[in-house]
Amino acid sequence: MPGAFEGETVSRRRFMTLTAHGAGGVAAAAFTLPALGFALAPIFKHQAWSWQAVGPVSDFPDHQDFVTRILNVQKDAGESGTTLVYMRKRLSGVDTEHEDQYNQIIAISSRCMHVGCPVRWTSAAERFICPCHGGVYNIRGIVTGGPPVRPLDRFYTRINSTSGLVEVGPRYSVNSELQRFSPRLPGEPLDGIGQFLYPSQFAGPKKP
Ligand code: FES
Repeated sequence: MPGAFEGETVSRRRFMTLTAHGAGGVAAAAFTLPALGFALAPIFKHQAWSWQAVGPVSDFPDHQDFVTRILNVQKDAGESGTTLVYMRKRLSGVDTEHEDQYNQIIAISSRCMHVGCPVRWTSAAERFICPCHGGVYNIRGIVTGGPPVRPLDRFYTRINSTSGLVEVGPRYSVNSELQRFSPRLPGEPLDGIGQFLYPSQFAGPKKP
């Protein structure tokens, strides 16, 4: 072989090149594989959920206001596994999306879609307002000001035909047209290519 000493099957230059490429590949994998695992792990993480009864239908306002409920979203996590949700009845002329049995009672998450601070409903302004960086959302949870990248998350709801109680199910995320998506983290937009860039947080129920 050209460049190789007698008895050698590969030149020293070639050997050094292969060694350098191999070391480079190992170093690159050491950086990229953990990052890839971090990005993809949520796809395979399954979070248990269950329907939680939160009161009779009459508890929930049929005008432009909300009542709050505390949901247990992570079992065995105590208070840190709970979240605040804003709830009201579906309003004709206001709520035009998802006219199905999972949306007769609207349940809007209090987690801001900028970086996750808790938003607060302000009746006088008829807006959800985030105290951290000034995010503002309307009564449907759609962003009307500030840095949040998508509307507030929601929860599936249903009315139990036996007990008559309203039950809240798993969280879902929405794009700016309130189309449903499996849950994403705050800061992850869902419009356009955004819906393909960020992995779902868990495999929720099949879309109704
Ligand atoms: S966390 Fe709500 S605006 Fe930044």
